[in-house]
Amino acid sequence: MTKNVVVKEGGTLLSVPSEHSSGGPGKKNSEIFFNEQMAFNRDVSVMLLRSLSPGITVADAMTATGARAARIANEVPGTEVTANDINPGSMEYVRKNIELNGLGNCTPSNKDLHILFSEHAFGYVDLDPFGSPAPFIQSAIRGCSRKGILAITATDTAPLAGAHSAKCRRRYQSEPVRGYMCHEGGLRILMCTIARELAKFDRGMSPMLSFSADHYYRTYVRVTEGAEAADRTLSQLGYMRYDTRTMERSISSRPDEMHRLGPFWTGNLHDPEILNGMSPEGMADERRCSKMLELWRREIDSEVFVYDLSELSSHIKMSPPKIEIMVDALCQHGKASRTHMSPTSFKTDLPLSEIIDVYRSSSPDARR
Ligand SMILES: C[S@@+](CC[C@H](N)C(=O)[O-])C[C@H]1O[C@@H](n2cnc3c(N)ncnc32)[C@H](O)[C@@H]1O
Repeated sequence: MTKNVVVKEGGTLLSVPSEHSSGGPGKKNSEIFFNEQMAFNRDVSVMLLRSLSPGITVADAMTATGARAARIANEVPGTEVTANDINPGSMEYVRKNIELNGLGNCTPSNKDLHILFSEHAFGYVDLDPFGSPAPFIQSAIRGCSRKGILAITATDTAPLAGAHSAKCRRRYQSEPVRGYMCHEGGLRILMCTIARELAKFDRGMSPMLSFSADHYYRTYVRVTEGAEAADRTLSQLGYMRYDTRTMERSISSRPDEMHRLGPFWTGNLHDPEILNGMSPEGMADERRCSKMLELWRREIDSEVFVYDLSELSSHIKMSPPKIEIMVDALCQHGKASRTHMSPTSFKTDLPLSEIIDVYRSSSPDARR
């Protein structure tokens, strides 16, 4: 018999197995899954939903202990939440968590999500599987009401980021990018997959917030309706060339000899209005939420390519400047920002030749 423990996450009490994961992709230490490190992932759901108009129906389709469902029901006023999991054992935790927080707006549901979404549609649909969400995306789309929100996590970062290319081709029908752009690429393959599945239903998408963190990728997209919306969405998919010998990158709307990576989503990752409406107050990890919100808000979102100081340093053979110095120097010539993907990466609208010039003149070696 598994022992339980009550923890507080954000403003919500959670009964969870005492033997649970505290980092990494999470092991199934007990029969019912709970990972403390995913508190930040759940924080983001709460912040995002709190920034929208009240009255949203929510399906936490793979709820396990009901942690996310209970947090949303408790911390986002005006929500009506269904806490669903296929595992009958998770219902004991879901019920306990509803009771612990006195939630009248959260209902347990013990169904295969494919069945749940063939019966009901919701304004917000959350998929948080072990590994790849690919087998569940079609059902989630069926279960997402008109102009609803899809919130999808992928923890299979190894295939998406190019460490297992064959697996990525099988699951996502996409050729991943390796090296310094692997996480940007992985996140954009996930988004491309959602876009292509939506198009089959004459639906499109508009990203609200998309990020890479810890061991996973996560995206929130608002579904847009109709054939035109689907075509507009598909027009934002593209193929990439990334030559690690020269650092050259380019995008093409069609695959060719040079552009053999992808397809990727090449549109925005975020909606600035959504980000501006989100507040870290009361979150489990307020400091991290605040820091990430700041990074997401400042990130240049019109550029797909990421550059990294380590990449430039190994090509140019000069010591890297501090990231702040490099970004400030780039801003003298064009647009530039740090990215949330890595503390040493940045985005800019400048061409590679200018980036190299700026790097050379900003390197501490240049001043010696
Ligand atoms: C990674 S855990 C979810 C963690 C949870 N969202 C949290 O924040 O703690 C994945 C869950 O998906 C459930 N699951 C797997 N396949 C499912 C299906 N077809 N329908 C519903 N739930 C499913 C598993 O039982 C497991 O509890």
